[in-house]
Amino acid sequence: MLEQLKQLEAQALEELDRIDKPRELELWRVRHLGKKSSLTSVLRSLATLPLGERRKIGAQANEIKRALESSLNEKEKSLQEASFTSPLESRWLDITLPGRPLPVGRLHPTTQILQDICRVFKNMGFQTIEGPDVEWDYYNFEALNIPEHHPARDMFATFWIDVGAGAKARLLRTHTSPMQIRLMERERPPIRAIAPGRVYRYEATDATHESVFFNVEGLAVDKNISLGDLKGTLYEFCRCLFGEDRQVRFRCDYFPFVEPGMEVAIGCSVCDGVGCRLCGHSGWIETAGAGMVHPGVLARVGIDPAVYSGFAFGVGVERIAMLRYSVDDIRLFYSNDLRFLRQF
Ligand code: PHE
Repeated sequence: MLEQLKQLEAQALEELDRIDKPRELELWRVRHLGKKSSLTSVLRSLATLPLGERRKIGAQANEIKRALESSLNEKEKSLQEASFTSPLESRWLDITLPGRPLPVGRLHPTTQILQDICRVFKNMGFQTIEGPDVEWDYYNFEALNIPEHHPARDMFATFWIDVGAGAKARLLRTHTSPMQIRLMERERPPIRAIAPGRVYRYEATDATHESVFFNVEGLAVDKNISLGDLKGTLYEFCRCLFGEDRQVRFRCDYFPFVEPGMEVAIGCSVCDGVGCRLCGHSGWIETAGAGMVHPGVLARVGIDPAVYSGFAFGVGVERIAMLRYSVDDIRLFYSNDLRFLRQF
């Protein structure tokens, strides 16, 4: 009987040794220490033995029982410890390593400049308004003194939506000047507003021309508005965006909706006026058209040109961005090249 007990113990310990999953421990306990285990039946059968043997074997069996229980406890503990440490060892983390940089988004350079431009004019008291990209012929041309067959329509190669419908034809606006009319139709002087937005030209692209770009239209109408006010406003605008030193040039130009009309150029920032690809070797970059609102335009929207006068201008936003960041090809702004965009 003693021999049998020793064997039971050895077998149980051997099995225990092989266990490597905590949930197998319970099965082992039932098998070797449970009510139906061999050890338990030995303990139960003690009553039938003579007293001397009962003592000896009883003591032995109880000792084995305690030994198995404590082995079970130890095994349980060591498996638990392993379940904590082994994942730490196999997938350990070096918290002293630098973190991975997260890519941070940013505003498109055109948007940044657009916001700068609007802020400068806001500080001078201009409100900001917006209008439709799909425009009527009437607002884009007709009301701006450019009737059908007027040669000035050639200045604006147009994306037409309806062809041959006269003033009711729709088109993609070729400039933001239609916003002058929309604004004067609904507001009376004093008016001081800018209208930023996309404009569209059906033209071949090159380093300084895109078929989609941004304009910021400006309009001021009141009593006693003069050309000096226009020049002062645009000088201040350039000073705010480019500092005191940048040169500004006004030259006569023709737009049917202003009289007199002019073209505003800023000294090229890429070559500092010496001449380069960006400025077409002239040292200057045309950035805006401007002038005094034509009396006929005022009269058409019911503002008396004998009492009121106004100035208007249209700024090319990407041209300003090119000057500001010394970018020598306007097409970069819409090419979605991250190497370009990440620089801003
Ligand atoms: N709309 C004109 C253009 O895009 C610019 C302009 C605006 C000229 C306002 C005069 C007054 O060419």
